[in-house]
Amino acid sequence: AQVVKVGICGLGTVGGGTFNVLARNAAEIAARAGAAIEVVHVGARRDNPACDTGSTRVSRDIFAVIDDPEVQILVELIGGTTVAKEVVEKALAAGKHVVTANKALIAEFGNELFAQAEQCGVTIRYEAAVAGGIPIIKALREGLAGNRIEWLAGIINGTGNFILSEMRDKGREFDDVLAEAQALGYAEADPTFDVEGIDAAHKLVILASLAFGMPLQFSAVYTEGITELTPQDVEYAEELGYRIKHLGIAKQTGGGIELRVHPTLIPEKRLLANVNGVKNAVLVEGDAVGPTLYYGAGAGAEPTASAVVADIVDLARELSAGQQCRVPALGFASEKLRDVRI
Ligand code: HSE
Repeated sequence: AQVVKVGICGLGTVGGGTFNVLARNAAEIAARAGAAIEVVHVGARRDNPACDTGSTRVSRDIFAVIDDPEVQILVELIGGTTVAKEVVEKALAAGKHVVTANKALIAEFGNELFAQAEQCGVTIRYEAAVAGGIPIIKALREGLAGNRIEWLAGIINGTGNFILSEMRDKGREFDDVLAEAQALGYAEADPTFDVEGIDAAHKLVILASLAFGMPLQFSAVYTEGITELTPQDVEYAEELGYRIKHLGIAKQTGGGIELRVHPTLIPEKRLLANVNGVKNAVLVEGDAVGPTLYYGAGAGAEPTASAVVADIVDLARELSAGQQCRVPALGFASEKLRDVRI
């Protein structure tokens, strides 16, 4: 039987979840991938009590995973844009395919990393970077490939939605719910990214580039978080028949594309108004398909791992068939990306 060999850098919430899902569902995953997926090397500065790596080789020096000639797919789950960027660049240069859940890295450095990957004849997959377990990247890149996308809008930060839901449903304090989101592994290492809208802006820019076929332009997103909201705002909205939701919105306008993340009043009967807790939901309107809705867990170890593993399976299918991975990173041929005003 064929074997595809994987190295994982980072064994935190998502890294541990990915290891565990690959182990638990190994038989089904192998049947889907056409090859057994073997994690041959893990790079982690510390152990994760939620993950028993058994006899798998574990290095404290994460770069040892990249130097491992056995590793065909490098899974970057460190987060941040410093060490993680170096890891991805080195992996690409070493001819390894990369899977990452790192939205900050893709949103801010995706243009150069995708170009490097193309030059190196390898691929970067990043399904887990947006909306946790929801396969929204695949939906935009593949499922809706026949459409001209008119607009998309969604709840794309699980921590923020969890905070707003708990404030509304249980009258809890902002800081108290944020602390719980951190304990549950939903929040970013720096939770200001969640509550200031930066995480949502990272994700929105990725979705917009996939939807509209343009290079990533993170600095162009209008970004407002939820830190200024008070329990009174939530309560008054309720009295008027609305819910406050933090949305990311990307829209074609006359002269360009509008990109914004901010709190929004949504009438309580609308679908997005009823997405609660750590769930995310994204509405996408295509000219052929009409409106579509994607819903599911937006954060957490195994939902995010579900998306990471999907990317590994995709790559493993192609590797085991001896094919080159040819799906462009943003779904559009790189030389056809549009120069769009935002
Ligand atoms: N901190 C992120 C969130 C994790 O809460 O949505 C998933 O990207």
